[in-house]
Amino acid sequence: MTTISLRGIRSIVGGLAALLALSCGDSASGPDGGCTGPVESCTLRELATSAGVRIGAGAAVSRLVRDDPEYAGQMARHFNALTPNAELKWQATQPERHLRRFESADLLVDFAAQNRMEIRGHTLVWAHEDVYDVLPQYVNDVTDAGRLREVTREHVNAVMERYRGRIRRWDVVNEPLTIAGEALHDNVYRRLLGDRWVSEVFRMAAAADPDAELWLNENLALSNAAKADTLYELVAEMVADGVPIDGIGFQGHFLGGAPDAGHVETTVRRFADLGLRVAITEMDIPMPDGAEGAERQGTDFYETIAACLRVSACEEVTFWGFTDAHTWLDGFLGRPARPLPLDGEYREKPAYDGVRQALAERAGL
Ligand code: G3I
Repeated sequence: MTTISLRGIRSIVGGLAALLALSCGDSASGPDGGCTGPVESCTLRELATSAGVRIGAGAAVSRLVRDDPEYAGQMARHFNALTPNAELKWQATQPERHLRRFESADLLVDFAAQNRMEIRGHTLVWAHEDVYDVLPQYVNDVTDAGRLREVTREHVNAVMERYRGRIRRWDVVNEPLTIAGEALHDNVYRRLLGDRWVSEVFRMAAAADPDAELWLNENLALSNAAKADTLYELVAEMVADGVPIDGIGFQGHFLGGAPDAGHVETTVRRFADLGLRVAITEMDIPMPDGAEGAERQGTDFYETIAACLRVSACEEVTFWGFTDAHTWLDGFLGRPARPLPLDGEYREKPAYDGVRQALAERAGL
């Protein structure tokens, strides 16, 4: 518990410094200013700044940031944080052993710095074998525990050291549980290192950058009570063991509509009570068809985000994308999903208004 407290104090001091830097920077009407006019005239970024929280554009694509000025400009206008889509994943940064590629990630890290946006380092270890090619083949091919620890430490050190001081928070492990959430996912880590593999990777990350916030990112726990329980058991054990973990990111791919807001708030509070920071890290809700669809989506965004932000430990909401022009769900669902706050032409939707209202409440506006 002592370890957690010290890390917590350091993080609070860092957070206060960042807030001071924001408020002493450009004028309040500048890109990092808070909301000074009527709430409905303020951007999400301005409201989030007033509320002292992060509002993030996730699935940020380096190619679009480089080649599409409107995409880049709108992202920086509406958001004070970003999460790369795939640029920081192991497959992208080291597809083969000793072959390092950082151009795409560098581009996003530089863009975030230029626009005073926080960046979420997504992700150090995502060990699904059956969904995406996120883990390089040379890792999946490892057959002994010592070798797995060696290649993992190499990877964690290389990426965290490169971005030390520029990426201050990392999704250290992504999606360790099965989709249904009854247990840890069967993968090369669990087979070779056992059930404590998640803790081992967190300890490696803490050694690589002792100043970074270390987060665990998981899907479906805000919409599946049984999965929330399994995740809680895993994380509570880590905390009890003194594992250096700072936060829990709840992915918010709510494909079936908004989750129960009561469950969201209770779950967020439960993890906050462990002394952890909390974020919704990958939110999208497909827009229902019909005349009422856009309004329904707006209400869903509001209720879900407000439930999280009612808990003070909930310090970030990031969408998986930010404009309906670019969303993984179009491919995944095989139809236009329109799951984000801005439409395909960067116009604010009722979903945007819903987020705006939740942020305004947190800011006391
Ligand atoms: O960048 C390469 C490109 O150089 C190459 O030509 C092309 C050929 O296939 O692949 C490109 O990389 C793809 C990358 O997306 C960028 O488009 C990868 O193959 C592809 O696997 C990758 O998919 C991403 C996936 O994570 C795996 O990294 C999705 O776009 C992204 O939306 C998805 O995001 C995940 C979160 O990280 C975790 N939670 C679920 C979420 C949705 O599945």
